[in-house]
Amino acid sequence: MGELFRRFWLPALVSHEVADRNGPPIRIRLLGEDLVAFRDSTGTVGIIGAHCPHRLAPLFFGRNEEGGLRCAYHGWKFDVNGTCLDMPNEPPERQFKQRITQTAYPTREQGGVVWVYMGPKEVMPDRLPQFEWAQAPEGHQFVAKWLQRTNWCQGMEGEIDTSHISFLHSMKEVYNPEALVAQSPSVLENAALDGAPRLTLLETPYGFNYGSRRTYKDQYYWRVTRWLFPMYSLIPGTANGGAGRCWVPVDDEHTFTFHYQSRDDRPFDDDEIAQFYKGGGFPPRMERTKYMLRDGNVIDTWVPTARIENDYLIDREMQRDVNFTGIWGVNEQDRSLQEGMRPIVDRSKEHLGTADIAVLSARRLLLNMAKKLMKGEEPRPPHDPESYNLRPLEVIDPQDDFRSILEKYDATLGAAAF
Ligand code: FES
Ligand SMILES: [Fe+2]
Repeated sequence: MGELFRRFWLPALVSHEVADRNGPPIRIRLLGEDLVAFRDSTGTVGIIGAHCPHRLAPLFFGRNEEGGLRCAYHGWKFDVNGTCLDMPNEPPERQFKQRITQTAYPTREQGGVVWVYMGPKEVMPDRLPQFEWAQAPEGHQFVAKWLQRTNWCQGMEGEIDTSHISFLHSMKEVYNPEALVAQSPSVLENAALDGAPRLTLLETPYGFNYGSRRTYKDQYYWRVTRWLFPMYSLIPGTANGGAGRCWVPVDDEHTFTFHYQSRDDRPFDDDEIAQFYKGGGFPPRMERTKYMLRDGNVIDTWVPTARIENDYLIDREMQRDVNFTGIWGVNEQDRSLQEGMRPIVDRSKEHLGTADIAVLSARRLLLNMAKKLMKGEEPRPPHDPESYNLRPLEVIDPQDDFRSILEKYDATLGAAAF
């Protein structure tokens, strides 16, 4: 599966993590590889091996100088391409420096995100996936990242598990939702009206469309989620442009979750951004800190405040009187269960039902793609970047057939969907 991920451009950083030219490097791990990211004097972001090829000292402690990162131990210096620019502790006539390169991966920046490609050069996609949020003008998108302490797949699977919304994210016990809808007819409360949605899934070359149909008065409340290879979601319920998340594997037991959303009418204002960071939705409440991974390597990231060590700040009174979980934010609710499933779920012990078709489909599609890659067949979606330019869909409509809903609304998503 790691090889498959290496065929895609992946979000690696939020651009402001490496805001300054010649600013401090930051430590990350992606696909199990320890890396250091820095913005050089020209503004290009380098993502290179975390440990110096001389004696494996951490380059994090190095100096980000004119044109490259210089190791603090003996002064070897590397640029964003991994070229060794200087080796001051060796005589120049040995030409040792020409024989040394550091691991380095190509990066691009778009939509407030630094993207990285960690696969073979000869099959590198020319362009980034053309997500609407990533192409939006500066300020029209909001992106945040945080650490989830599970395998990437658990986070991704939670996203396409639409039936949990009526329970986990419900504002009160799900069996008496009418009163709540009357108070505040929000998306989640609409969903609570019918806890057993009828689910339909239509596969596409980029992944699948996943429709849930709930009875709503004398019509249907349709939610259409997009799932795109290898782990992106586009989720309805956010005004004007949609929102979604993706799960970038740090290693088998940790994940960087990226949240993205955009609006096409105007930039987000400061109040809206401040509201996002309060943690009611995405991102969760979080702090910028260091996090030590199991093998002692440290990464620099945002770590959620509500976490397994403090029971996600569960409030049992709130659980009795206010919401279903007693846990405050939407992502905090998700993570309490996903992380509590333990870092890697033993899927042989699951009992999946009809509500789990999207989870089953995503697993099957990904495993098929990975198996084909093992036989030498390259995946197509990374080379079809336009197919990522989609919106999720949320409508109330009398039509009961999913295909008809897609036909009716997909062509006019901008106006009709929200
Ligand atoms: S370990 Fe980096 S220069 Fe020696
Ligand atoms: Fe959720």
